[in-house]
Parts: sequence; C-alpha cells; structure tokens
Amino acid sequence: VSLQLRQLPWDFDTTVPFQWNPTNPRFGLLVNSISFSAIPFERYMVAAIREAGPLITDPAIAREADLFLRQEAIHARAHRGHVHALIEQYPGLQETADAVAADYDALFECESLEFHLAFAADIEATFTPVFKMLLDNRATLFEPGDDRVASLLLWHFSEEIEHRSSALRIYEHVVGKPWYRLQMFPRVFRHVSGISAKVFAGFDEHVPVTERLVSLAPRRLDLRALVGRRTRRESHRGDPYPTAYERVPRSQLAAMLWRLALSQVPNHDPEHQPLPAFAGEWFDAYEAGRDVTHWYGSAAAAC
Ligand SMILES: [Fe+2]
Ligand SMILES: [Fe+2]
Repeated sequence: VSLQLRQLPWDFDTTVPFQWNPTNPRFGLLVNSISFSAIPFERYMVAAIREAGPLITDPAIAREADLFLRQEAIHARAHRGHVHALIEQYPGLQETADAVAADYDALFECESLEFHLAFAADIEATFTPVFKMLLDNRATLFEPGDDRVASLLLWHFSEEIEHRSSALRIYEHVVGKPWYRLQMFPRVFRHVSGISAKVFAGFDEHVPVTERLVSLAPRRLDLRALVGRRTRRESHRGDPYPTAYERVPRSQLAAMLWRLALSQVPNHDPEHQPLPAFAGEWFDAYEAGRDVTHWYGSAAAAC
C-alpha cells in the first residue's frame, strides 16, 4: 500500500464563520464537532500505533503503519488550524477542546494497547460507509458552505478512504482476536458519544445561538435531528432549518447503516467495499495541481 503524505496550505483565520453552513446548520455543527474531536482522536491513534511499533514484525505492515500515522498527524494539524480560528472568535471553546483532549488522554492511560488498536480499527472501519454517503451528497452538504471548511473535509475524507484498511491491518497483525474488536464496540461507541455530547454542549455554552443558529446539545441530540423529516407543523413553528441529512436519499442512508453494521463484524475487509467516486476525482485533481484547499472556489475559477 502506498499512502501519500500531502501537506496543504490551509488558510484558516478569524474570517471562517463558526456556522460555516447556514443552509444546513445542523450539518455545520456536526462538521465542527468532527474538527474538535479529530485532533485528540488522531493524536490518540498516533500514540497507540507508535507503541505498537516494536510488535509489528511484517515490514510491509510497518511501512503502512508509518505512513498511516503520518497522514493522521497531518489531519490533526489541519483541523487544529480550523479549531484555533474558532477559539480565537469564541475563547470559551478552548475549554471544550481541552475537555475532549483530556478524555482521550485518560483513555490512553487507562486502557490496554489491544483496546487502543481495537478502538482505532472500529472507528476507522465506520469511515468508508459514512464518508461515502457524505461525499456522494457533497453538492447539498458541502458546496453551499464556507469553501475552506468544505475543502478541509473533502480532503480528509478522501484520505480516510485511501487508508481505509490500515487500522484493521495493524489490529489483525498485532492483536489478531477477531471477536475482541466487536466485543469492545459498545465501549468505543460510549466513548465517542460522550465526546460528541461534550462538544455540542460546549458549542451551546460558548457560542451565541445567533451565531450557531441551532443546537445539537444532548437533550436535543436524537436521531430525528439528523435524519428525520420535519413535520409541516414544525416548519411552521419557526425552525426553518432542515435536519442534517434531510436531503440525503433514504436509500443511501439505509445502505450506509447496513454497511456500518458489516464494518464491525470479525474479519471485515474494507478493501473491496463500494467507494465514493469523488475520492478518485480528488486524488486526480491533487495530482493535476488544482488548489484543493479551495475546492469550489478553484472550480469556479477554472470555468
Ligand atoms: Fe484522519
Ligand atoms: Fe484515518
């Protein structure tokens, strides 16, 4: 496997609005929460894979592990640029970033290396189905928003597709145990939902509603806020915003859920699962020298 290391000149500054996607503000908050949680999650994975280094005896896997963790470190750095731009505008958000980092540090302290590698493999396995749905619907989810934030995610998700099998390969080589990963899934899920709840509560506490437009804080974080359809009465009651995935075809959401379930079964191999065509388009554009840090802006300029 050859993974490419792409250092990109992101230009996040205080002109990046917290609500970068006012036409779908719930999705906007979801993406912001990805930036906040990606930083400590990717650092956690990098630390775990470094610790696993001496146990990797296959040179091909050692090479892949090295490139994989370097890609993740580059992702974390780019998301840090986004998060810092938001913290500069809403300094209270530093507390939220610190709390999420502390949670991952505690996880690294308290759990075993086997658990860390299972955690990484479980989460990374969910990415291909979820990011396929997101990239397949980029015209409604990303394009209407701030170009810098949209471009950050288009890049990150494409590289996640590129290294979709890496965490699983490392897990299988170092830990083996096909059922352990599935057994750990409830704990992994609890940790990740706890992080999301904390981030959304932090957004509510530190960013005025006039700026974020909606809330995904725990009491309101139900599936309906993400995938439901609003009743006519609700849209008349003054919430003019769609649920996050309202414009995603139901069949695509169903396919994603089915593939999410498959991604957790023992011996899952993401190598041949359906991929978003966009990832290939992104890699070609990068090779061709297009400004991938302003994906939609550069498309417009080329027309
Ligand atoms: Fe990543
Ligand atoms: Fe990843």
